[in-house]
Amino acid sequence: MSADNKNDNMVVTPWEVKGDIDYGTLVQRFGTQPLTEELKERIAKHAGFMHMQLRRNVYFSHRDLDWWLNEYDAGRPVGLYTGRGPSGGVHLGHLLPWFFCAYLQKAYNAKLYFQMTDDEKFLHREDLTLDETIAYSYDNALDVIACGVQPELTHIFSDTDHIGHIYKLGLQVSKRITMSTVKAVFGFTDSDNIGLTWYPALQAMTCFLQSYREGRNVACLIPAAIDQDPYWRMTRDIAEKMGYTKPTQIHNKFLPPLTQGGKMSASQPESAIFTTDVPEKAAKKVMAAFTGGRETIKLQKELGGRPEVCNIYAYYYYLFEEDDAKLIEVEQQCKCGALVCGDCKARLAKMVKAFLVDFQTKRDKAKDNLADYLIK
Ligand code: TRP
Repeated sequence: MSADNKNDNMVVTPWEVKGDIDYGTLVQRFGTQPLTEELKERIAKHAGFMHMQLRRNVYFSHRDLDWWLNEYDAGRPVGLYTGRGPSGGVHLGHLLPWFFCAYLQKAYNAKLYFQMTDDEKFLHREDLTLDETIAYSYDNALDVIACGVQPELTHIFSDTDHIGHIYKLGLQVSKRITMSTVKAVFGFTDSDNIGLTWYPALQAMTCFLQSYREGRNVACLIPAAIDQDPYWRMTRDIAEKMGYTKPTQIHNKFLPPLTQGGKMSASQPESAIFTTDVPEKAAKKVMAAFTGGRETIKLQKELGGRPEVCNIYAYYYYLFEEDDAKLIEVEQQCKCGALVCGDCKARLAKMVKAFLVDFQTKRDKAKDNLADYLIK
């Protein structure tokens, strides 16, 4: 993806996200539509409440979400699809769309197809064996379950272990995608392994999987970060040829890392809080995080902090402070210099610990009923 002048350090591709992310520019670059207040209200109407992620504009962009909602309003079934490249442990940034899927699943009584791309990660990463990526599929599935998805409406699958459920549809898709398309969309070259050039057919296939299995067209919505967009552009181009409707999308922002710039990354453990971090250790990462504070406490009291560039504030905003009034209070206290970074971090660290204790309980429980959530 070529960089433009305004954000020339911003890189957002399926393999790399770095630099200062400007979401307005991303909407333009990817040619998506901004998520309007009206659409947020429409989503909330069926849920009975507006999810915090919608209130806080964690979702900023979409493709044809209005059509997906129209389908539901017309009394037709709608479905959800998202996925994960199982290359390691899950961190808080990954959870944003999964929590949102659980919310949408409940509101729209929608089946969720959740793809674990252990094949993709094996093909893409020199440092991982196939056994390792497959093991992460099942490990990461526990995190998906802990987000509150419902067993009777959820179909988690591993591309390798569950290939029998997906291969035929994958072949139908792959027959309609040429080498020049994948080269143009993903930038593959002659030195890439051929597995990588086939893999996009499997990621695309899931958009139609519910329709295929049920023998009827079900509108598919993909909640995910915008970096996966190239796959969906490719899929949308072949959908009608295959007799299916185009997949629709809703895009979430990246949770900022605890360190400066880009997104949380599993390759930099100090930048992210993992769902399996010992709560005390996670609290220490929070205490060591980058903030929008001034050099000294004296300056902070005089000038106030800068929540708009503060990652600690971002954590309150995206995940941890659900109470809008309390969030505004944090912001104002910070700006006027009354709240110093140490105290603010300690407050967040406590919330992170409580969250992890609860999440890890749910995650452990998921080990006993994992099978209920897998594709059958
Ligand atoms: N390619 C994604 C990754 O590397 C995994 C994935 C497959 C996915 N299907 C998806 C992500 C659908 C979001 C939505 O992480």
